[in-house]
Parts: sequence; structure tokens; C-alpha cells
Amino acid sequence: MELIDGKKISAEIKEEIALEVKKIKQAGGKTPHLAAILVGHDGGSETYVAHKVKACEFVGFESSLIRYEDDVIEAELLAKIDELNNDVQIDGFIVQLPLPKHISEEKIIEAINPDKDVDGFHPVNVGRMSIGLPSFVSATPAGILQLLKRYNIDISGKHCVVLGRSNIVGRPVSILLSQKADVGNATVTVCHSRTANLKELCLQADIIIAALGVPEFLTGDMVKEGTVVIDVGTTRVKSDKTKSGWKLKGDVKFDEVAEKCSYITPVPGGVGPMTIVSLLKNTLLAAKGEIY
Ligand code: GUN
Repeated sequence: MELIDGKKISAEIKEEIALEVKKIKQAGGKTPHLAAILVGHDGGSETYVAHKVKACEFVGFESSLIRYEDDVIEAELLAKIDELNNDVQIDGFIVQLPLPKHISEEKIIEAINPDKDVDGFHPVNVGRMSIGLPSFVSATPAGILQLLKRYNIDISGKHCVVLGRSNIVGRPVSILLSQKADVGNATVTVCHSRTANLKELCLQADIIIAALGVPEFLTGDMVKEGTVVIDVGTTRVKSDKTKSGWKLKGDVKFDEVAEKCSYITPVPGGVGPMTIVSLLKNTLLAAKGEIY
């Protein structure tokens, strides 16, 4: 079994981005600028956004963090989005999800100008991605594809089982894996809460992408020998062994599954760091105007 080291690969990609930013600045170009809107104080969202800001600093981007309390009204967020859409200094921006229940995530995402939607969540970007047109591809699916690519894991003709059908991970990654592309051409099965024979399907899989948000869902008896396992889960569970009082758990029962598979991503240190570098890459593409 080989561990897929997302920390190492993401560090390499950050160096590549930093070098490109340096060249842009040396040539007198504008410093890429990513803005993030964060509503409320959800622990997970706070951590993700802090990592995103730190990563921007590392590669030499400018970043802005715009915070609102939980009780912000939708109209105020929409007004800020309109402002960011029209701010020539901002190359791309994200609205960290989830949002409080009284705010429509759909409405918020649709308000973002697709050419600044570096999360790739806007229906225009999702639609363009689905038919293979240039688009911002959402960060976690893009990060997963990069890991497969950089570990030379050939997925062409392989059976890939995706667990979960979320708009952020399951659905887009399933589309990308089946596309006629460099990392693509897989036969994809998408499993979800209504899938009847999930264990049988997993046992037939050459690659499993676990993205359902259920800690330790995938157990050793659900994978065949030699499977490639990508764990997208990042659920915070209580722990008396850590200072913070919680630890991150993936969707894979690591010790059991690692014994059988050929490659596996750890949690933390697998997909998570890749998500952040994919966001940086999209921001760089936005700054260079390479998608639109
Ligand atoms: N919440 C969980 N993942 C993401 C992400 O990739 N982007 C945003 N904006 N919110 C998230």
C-alpha cells in the first residue's frame, strides 16, 4: 500500500504557483487577489478560510476576508457580491459554505459573476465543466484529479465508484472521471443513500472516492485487494486526546482499508490540502483571464 501524500503534492504545487506569481510581479503585472466571504463562526469553516488566507500569503497573492455575523440578511450578502463582481482589484472570490438556513445558497451562488467564481459552483461553470468547455472546476474534484495524475494512477477504462452525490464533490468528480480527458475515461458508478447494493458495487471498484460525510463508512470488507481509495471525508468528532477537543475523521476506516488497497489518502493530509491549492490555481487562472 502506498500513501498518497496530499501535503507533499500540494506543497509542490504551491511552489509552482509562487514562482509564477513572482514572474508576474517582476513583469509589472497585477498581484492576484482572492476574496472570501465568511458568515458566522462555524469551526470547520473558520479553519478552512484561515488555511485559504494563509495559502494566499504563501504564494504571494493578496487576500481579503469579509466577515458577517450569523444574522446577516441575504440582501446584504447579495450587495457585497455585487460589489466584488464589479471590483477590478478582485480576481476571484468565494462564499464559504454552509450558510445559515435563512439564506439561500442557490441565490448567493447564482449572484457570483461566473468569471470570478473560483469555487466553480455557479451553474454556468458547472454546465461548462459538464460538457468539457473551459471553466472553473470546483476545488475538491480538481484536487482529487491532480492527486491521481501526480501519482500516475491510470483510471482509463477502470471502474470508479463515487460515494456521495453532493454538488461540491460527488456529482462533479463523477462527471470529470468519465470525461474523455487526460485523467478520465473511467466507468463511473455514483452511489448514494438510496443505492441498494452499495457493498457489491464497492467490491467491484478499482477506485473508490468516498465523499458522503459519514465517518469511517467504508470498511475493510467493502474493498477488494488493490483498490485505490480517495477519502474526502472531514468530519469533526469529539476526542479527549487532542487539545482542541476534536479530531478530523475521514469516510474510510483507514486501518482496515489500508491493508487491502494499493493507494490510499490519509485524513488529514490527503485531499484537504489539495482543495486549497486548486482554489489558488483557479484564482491564478482568473487573474490571467485564461478561462473567460
Ligand atoms: N464548504 C466546504 N467546502 C467548500 C469549498 O470548497 N468552498 C466553499 N466556498 N465552501 C465550502
